[in-house]
Amino acid sequence: MIQRRLLTTISRMTEEAKRLAGCAAVDNHVQNNQVLGIGSGSTIVHAVNRLAERVKKESLNVSCVPTSFQARQLILQNGLNLTDLERHPELDVAIDGADEVDSELNLIKGGGGCLAQEKIVAGCAKSFIVIADYRKDSKEFGQQWKKGIPIEVLPVAYVPVTRAIQQQFGGVVELRIAVSKAGPVVTDNGNFLLDWKFDRVHDWNVVNTAIKMIPGVVDTGLFINMAERVYFGMEDGTISFRDKPAH
Ligand code: A5P
Repeated sequence: MIQRRLLTTISRMTEEAKRLAGCAAVDNHVQNNQVLGIGSGSTIVHAVNRLAERVKKESLNVSCVPTSFQARQLILQNGLNLTDLERHPELDVAIDGADEVDSELNLIKGGGGCLAQEKIVAGCAKSFIVIADYRKDSKEFGQQWKKGIPIEVLPVAYVPVTRAIQQQFGGVVELRIAVSKAGPVVTDNGNFLLDWKFDRVHDWNVVNTAIKMIPGVVDTGLFINMAERVYFGMEDGTISFRDKPAH
């Protein structure tokens, strides 16, 4: 009973932290006449709610590019203008969640399986802003996020890619299996997902490039040197942020 109450309190705190981060990103980075990238996951829901509020209240003219089927639905359900990269290949701001953020502001993404489109959209944005709750803040990858690095692969290549990653970099690679469906998770792009449980800290930039070179890899959930700022909603109801270190 006490444990259940504790879990409810923690999940309420986490949800509030996500909301704070989402609102901060929208309040500080969205302006009239912008084209925005809309990320995927649970944290982005709060950002989109806040965006819809501001659009209505301030009569903002913004267009939104989704990073997934879920993001597209969020945009439509909130009555926001939907656009795409064909019409708007340059975005002002992209806002998205993350599974883990390291001290250099590199990200692990793809827990929700949308990493390939997320990376494309983020890469088209002048400014990529990330929103997360306090549980995502790490010094090194793997401290908080234990599910590994997601990698989207063409279905035909999942075994060769698995073997190549394990041979080159160690650790264990698993095919992501669906929960309410028999067999693997199939991405919005019709591909499979591998989760690489790495066993040591790597040079993530090098590893990212090497994995991308393996035939059959669509993209990795490593977002290296892409985020400009990350907002963290904190346990105590405050917001903190970190900016990309200047090297
Ligand atoms: C989707 O594929 C992911 O990259 C999400 O952006 C990431 O998993 C964050 O999701 P939450 O906001 O649900 O934690």
